[in-house]
Amino acid sequence: MFLLFLAVAALAAGEAAAATTLTVTPANLAASDDQITIRWSGLPDPDGLDYVAIYSPPSSRDFDFLGYLFLNGSATWRQGSGELKLPRLPTLRAPYQFRLFRWPAKEYSYHHIDHDHNPLPHGKHRVAVSGEVQVGDPALPEQLHLAFANNVDEMRVLFVCGDSGKRVVRYGLDKENEGQWKEVGTEVRTYEQKHMCDTPANSSVGWRDPGFVFDGLMKELEPGKRYFYKVGSASRGWSDTYSFISRDTEANETIAFLFGDMGTFVPYNTYIRTEIESLSTMKWILRDIQALGDKPAFISHIGDISYARGYSWVWDHFFSQIEPIAANTPYHVCIGNHEYDWPSQPWKPWWGAGIYGKDSGGECGIPYSVKFRMPGNSNLPTGNGGPDTRNLYYSFDSGVVHFVFMSTETDFVKGSDQYNFLKADLDKVNRTRTPFVVFQGHRPMYTSSKESRDAALKQQMLHHLEPLLVAYNVTVALWGHVHMYERFCPMKNFQCLDTSSSFQYLGAPVHFVIGMAGKDSQPLWQPRHNHPEVPIFPQPVRSMYRGGQFGYTRLAATREKLTLMYVGNHDGQVHDTVEIFSGHISSNSSVADVVDGTKLGTGVSTKGKNSPWYLRTGGSVMFALLLGFVFGFLVRRKKEAAHWTLVKNDESCELSQYH
Ligand SMILES: [Fe+2]
Repeated sequence: MFLLFLAVAALAAGEAAAATTLTVTPANLAASDDQITIRWSGLPDPDGLDYVAIYSPPSSRDFDFLGYLFLNGSATWRQGSGELKLPRLPTLRAPYQFRLFRWPAKEYSYHHIDHDHNPLPHGKHRVAVSGEVQVGDPALPEQLHLAFANNVDEMRVLFVCGDSGKRVVRYGLDKENEGQWKEVGTEVRTYEQKHMCDTPANSSVGWRDPGFVFDGLMKELEPGKRYFYKVGSASRGWSDTYSFISRDTEANETIAFLFGDMGTFVPYNTYIRTEIESLSTMKWILRDIQALGDKPAFISHIGDISYARGYSWVWDHFFSQIEPIAANTPYHVCIGNHEYDWPSQPWKPWWGAGIYGKDSGGECGIPYSVKFRMPGNSNLPTGNGGPDTRNLYYSFDSGVVHFVFMSTETDFVKGSDQYNFLKADLDKVNRTRTPFVVFQGHRPMYTSSKESRDAALKQQMLHHLEPLLVAYNVTVALWGHVHMYERFCPMKNFQCLDTSSSFQYLGAPVHFVIGMAGKDSQPLWQPRHNHPEVPIFPQPVRSMYRGGQFGYTRLAATREKLTLMYVGNHDGQVHDTVEIFSGHISSNSSVADVVDGTKLGTGVSTKGKNSPWYLRTGGSVMFALLLGFVFGFLVRRKKEAAHWTLVKNDESCELSQYH
């Protein structure tokens, strides 16, 4: 009798479940479909925590969702039916599926939580399942992104497909005449679940098939030309056609967009908070790039890139998000703690125990190393025996600037491979060709935020690396990790140079923190209620500008001066500008105009082996010209010393924490 009762109850429950429907349209998203619609009906006794969970592949267990949406996002949810919208999701090389779950309030538990310590759905009480939803064709190339390569007449493109079958890159100057285009093959790489160092990256929750990363190198490019290209194959299909401007080492101008810590926006709830501000950063940079027309530019994202932290599909969102820029503009990166750090990694300095932790979520640098390919050949064994970590340190010239990228996560102290590379690289910079040197890494050497956790690291960087930056006259040092913008005076060892003395900026890099591109975990940088007159972290004299708005920096350099601007996402406008003069005098040069009342000029060295070319090569006429230039410049600077006083943003400032 009892068994009969159970059977009837189960049947009734089944009927109730069967009465609830869940449909997701379109079932097969074409290229033009930019929205997914989720509809449900017939849900009895709806509760405010009922949700639709998102899966890929459809074979995933209920517990292993990508993310979820609460039904109460629909105005009609109390009626047991409703509709939710999602933007087009990235192709994950397998179909999506959606499932509707009950989540009774009494089962809301703080034992299973997300990164923000909010309860995560438990994947129980499923009442409806959608059909499969196919987004795009897994055979078609996705996630295209460009990068400079080792030779100046090359451009590299990476992209992802669902299979490892042959793909090629076709490229040429005439968009309409593909018959004249060249064709090159590709290398293919991927990584496996067993290569990940730990959970969540190697767990069924975080791991998804990453597909195959194809790497094509376009060669023998004529300098400074717009090339058109597409990737794929005749049998499996082609990407759209994209274009880029080839490198020109003779160019007298350099434009770059630089930032750190941007992250990704994922349009549903997931295990981690994702970065909606990253959309604004991409939007404004795309605006700037489009305004450039046929002028070349590149992107520099100096660590903490996607913030996937072991949830692999977040990388797919990231590369889909940057593709409108990165498929047409080289996208350069350096490694951050959220790509690399894991306790099994090989470098364990005595001072690093509290610094190099678990921030990569078990990725331990492997997705970063396979999904990007930067110039150079730096690599390091990964701590669990997986594929080597790459893209640690490298450099290239772009127009009038030599750019250096370093890893703050791996050994940089004197005697290390990285230190030797950096020293040798800085030593051979030809300042005639590139009067400016921009040095970049993830964790800051200087910041005025309360970066107590990284104090020992900063000491090591100051001890081992600052002497290099000073000795080799690095113009600018850019750092991320702290989610704010900050500009320092030209300095060394915490000391601003005396602006009244001659050649005072010799060996005094201007440090910036530019980790404000999207990651938002930072408390407000504002006075405490009981000490309204004292900021929590007072701004030291050496800190010239602190900005709390999300944004990015825009670098524009000519042979005479380098200008770095801080653009705020809130209005797309420039909020801080600094100009740094090279001292080079071309036949038509003059002291550059003041910009926005905030500026910086640097004098030039007359000493040392890295003295400017005109001093090394001698020539009394040139030397006289130089003296005149510097004298006039210093006189003007003295008059305008007020520009070096603090320029406060009128918006509320923020204090950032490391991440
Ligand atoms: Fe970081």
